[in-house]
Amino acid sequence: MDKKVGRSNTDRHEDLRELLQKFEEIGELKTVQGADWNLEMAALAELVCAKDPGRAPAILFENIKDYPGNFRVLSAAANSFKRLALVMGFSEPDCEMDFVRCYRNRMREEFQLIPPIESNTGPILENIDRDEDVDLYKFPIPFIHEHDGGRYMGTDDLVIMKDPDTGWINVGTYRMMVHDKNTAGIWMSPGKHGRLIHEKYFKEGKPCPILISCGHDPLLFLAGNSEVDFEVSEFDYAGGHRGFPFEVIPSEVHGLPIPSHSEIVLEGELRNDLLMEEGPFGEFMGYYASPASDEPTIKVQRVYHRDDPILTMAIPSRPPSNFTFARSATKSAMIWDEIEKAGLPGVRGIWCHEAGAGRLFNVVSIKQMYPGHSKQAGMLTANCHSGNYSGRWVIVVDEDIDPTNMFDVIWALSTRCDPSDDIDIIRRAWSTPLDTMIEEAPYYNNRGIVDACRPWGRIDNFPRVAESSPELKEKVMAKWPEFF
Ligand SMILES: Cc1cc2nc3c(=O)[nH]c(=O)nc-3n(C[C@H](O)[C@H](O)[C@H](O)COP(=O)(O)O)c2cc1C
Repeated sequence: MDKKVGRSNTDRHEDLRELLQKFEEIGELKTVQGADWNLEMAALAELVCAKDPGRAPAILFENIKDYPGNFRVLSAAANSFKRLALVMGFSEPDCEMDFVRCYRNRMREEFQLIPPIESNTGPILENIDRDEDVDLYKFPIPFIHEHDGGRYMGTDDLVIMKDPDTGWINVGTYRMMVHDKNTAGIWMSPGKHGRLIHEKYFKEGKPCPILISCGHDPLLFLAGNSEVDFEVSEFDYAGGHRGFPFEVIPSEVHGLPIPSHSEIVLEGELRNDLLMEEGPFGEFMGYYASPASDEPTIKVQRVYHRDDPILTMAIPSRPPSNFTFARSATKSAMIWDEIEKAGLPGVRGIWCHEAGAGRLFNVVSIKQMYPGHSKQAGMLTANCHSGNYSGRWVIVVDEDIDPTNMFDVIWALSTRCDPSDDIDIIRRAWSTPLDTMIEEAPYYNNRGIVDACRPWGRIDNFPRVAESSPELKEKVMAKWPEFF
């Protein structure tokens, strides 16, 4: 039941604003007037997403309390089946696995990285605040959860940095808290590409030039918060999915690439000689698992923004969050692609469950072909780049189990798995201070790989499943259609 990828020119979009029009046309964009930036916006966005995961609308906040009516905030841009398909240029999927297959098929069959092209103009240059004119509080920055340490301007953001040795441009989503009108703090977990880059500058005693886009095409956000390969630029990756290059403009101070159709972009220097307390922040596992800490800060030298700017807001929280559907879908496809490229045959589906924040509870379904196949599937799913960071559980199931369906998965766990033989533990794996189960550095975690497939040697004589045959079901459904 593979669907065609089917991107045509009419599916292409120029920027976030064009997408918002499309979301409105399909009835998936709601506007909210008069909300308070202080807790209210985020609470409403959180409630709406949790009510109908995968189907809830995007919300555009206008006339936010204390701010000019045209300074707007957007929640959950790509976080539904329909909007994610529009953003990616896929036909509308019938179910989660349909989307995952489309993405993985694109990666396998037609995907090419498309580097950005340089331009010297674009809507992001409509307004530029320089040096002492910089005031981050001109934007309706949300205060997200009651116990956060401050207002987070960077959540659905793109942190853009250049590797000083190779010139590689990395784009990562890392949280960014405002300290004062021109100072912000940023937090990057050990092993993240942005952190590996800024550590190089700090080692040389230099500040790290940095751009932060705080409103943009959701394709760039999806790439920024995905584990795109080391030394591959997320601009090229997102361009590959859009089907034509993003445009970038060299920034005034450091010559870093500004996405020309972004809504708001900050430019500055990340300095480790200027540490300030960052956090705490309610995080993606659904907890405040790490306390505030002294972190490098950014002195903001330029603010570029469009007229009527739109700040994009992601809300890490007890799942589901306003970005976890999109993340589960893309991460599942990226893992599928990676484990196949590592040589694993017979994959039938993968789903990274939203309840595990799209990272912690991942199910892979395979058609078993040889002894050890299911173990290989579990280990690769847990250890490939996209599946590695802060994982907790990988469950391997047979091809008749739909990995998105927890009822099916629990049935497999309950009937095809012997806990004494079928659970392996990987110790000291890549995790984060945000992991609830780690109390102190170093931030390793342990994880369980569960084989819930029929035991290889018993596949042919494993007890028969007690249900009507597909042919009989079809016949009966055709005879009494009023029930179905
Ligand atoms: C809303 C959101 C906020 C995130 N915030 C952070 C963060 O503050 N620090 C961090 O290290 N990773 C954060 N991540 C995860 C990274 O974006 C993700 O691991 C990404 O792959 C990092 O880019 P890199 O692979 O280039 O390092 C966040 C993800 C999302 C969806």
